[in-house]
Amino acid sequence: MSNSAIKQVYGRRVWDSRGRPTVEVEITLENGGFGRAIAPAGASTGSGEALDLRDGGPRFAGYGVDGAVGNVNTLISDAITGMEASDQAGVDRALIVTDGTENRQKLGGNAMIATSMAVAHAAANGSGQPLWQYLGGSSENPLPVPEVQIFGGGAHAEGQMDLQDFMVVPFGASSFSEAMEWVAEIYLAAGKTMDSLGKRCGVADEGGYWPAFSSNEEAIETLARVIELAGFDTDSQVAISLDIAATQIYKDGGYFLKKEGRTLSTEQWYELMRDWVSRYPVIMIEDPFVEDDLDSHARFTAEFGDKMQVVGDDLLVTNLHHIAAAREKNACNTLLCKPNQAGTLSEAKQAFEAATEAGWNTVVSARSGETEDITIVHLALGWGIKQLKVGSFTRSERMAKWNEALRLEDAFGADASYAGGRPFGK
Ligand code: PGA
Ligand code: ZN
Repeated sequence: MSNSAIKQVYGRRVWDSRGRPTVEVEITLENGGFGRAIAPAGASTGSGEALDLRDGGPRFAGYGVDGAVGNVNTLISDAITGMEASDQAGVDRALIVTDGTENRQKLGGNAMIATSMAVAHAAANGSGQPLWQYLGGSSENPLPVPEVQIFGGGAHAEGQMDLQDFMVVPFGASSFSEAMEWVAEIYLAAGKTMDSLGKRCGVADEGGYWPAFSSNEEAIETLARVIELAGFDTDSQVAISLDIAATQIYKDGGYFLKKEGRTLSTEQWYELMRDWVSRYPVIMIEDPFVEDDLDSHARFTAEFGDKMQVVGDDLLVTNLHHIAAAREKNACNTLLCKPNQAGTLSEAKQAFEAATEAGWNTVVSARSGETEDITIVHLALGWGIKQLKVGSFTRSERMAKWNEALRLEDAFGADASYAGGRPFGK
């Protein structure tokens, strides 16, 4: 037996960026290796994703995780203590088997992903390597292109805007640190513009401005203007990405636009998005239709897929079966990879590999409920994922990820490169 055997598994309750309870796991190895990770949580969740185990009842509005933490300290500890942390696939399989359900409702997706990530951190630490390197990365892997939220809406801002994320993509920067500089200028310019319009109303869950626009189009138009005001060219430097999160606004067979007080048929909704993408510099669009409407996704991808990234989040839920179904229909060309949708790191990696095999790009993504955990940045560099989405450019649960990527860029020194260009990796 090599010395990466798991000696101790310990779970505790900590709190996320929405002030809700979440699961933290610490793993100690026989060789002294130590790892810690915290589960994130979504608000606009896809129906096929791994379920977080919540206590329910009146405390913390039902969001308690005593049951999930208890599972870490009993069932999970019993299942993986003594296993080699270096055998990530074996540990993850033990978690999956111990859970035994399709949607991870017994152990809880939150208990599972925190454990799976903490095991990877412990194995890396025990081997004396940073996580990205332990995961197989090299300093020749490029730093990912960030997708950064400027305005937040949808389920992250109590439906203030129908669309969920109005983001910028600094694809034309020459380095990751330059990309961050550009985003900082744009975020500041957006704040000034919101002030002058009298439309600044605090920040949404992921740190983007919570705007009081009267329509989605006004937000898109303002974002395009802000990019230019900050001094950037939308053709060659910084463009727009929209996470429509369409499942959230799909009601009774149509797309309900709250501010505009109207419901659009699928055909009318398609036309509206066609109009937006033809008039504004949109290079990525996520979940444009309700999650089970593969045909509309396929039609949209056939029309726009050679010009822009069509990203599947709720459509794919980081799940091999969903990816296979979407691939068969050509329903998108980019995977949004959220490890906690899958439940374990091994499954998230398989999803990334399946997307790569399909010829798609992948964006590794945080959730709207986050913490100081920076694991996903190491997944990007370790696995070679070329895009990273972690919310906005404020609030430390977001900045922790951007800052970790800056540290890695610095550590790579002369080897450091940036996955810029358009379309990415295609
Ligand atoms: P969520 O939002 O974490 O609330 O699901 C993020 C996204 O939809 O990309
Ligand atoms: Zn999304």
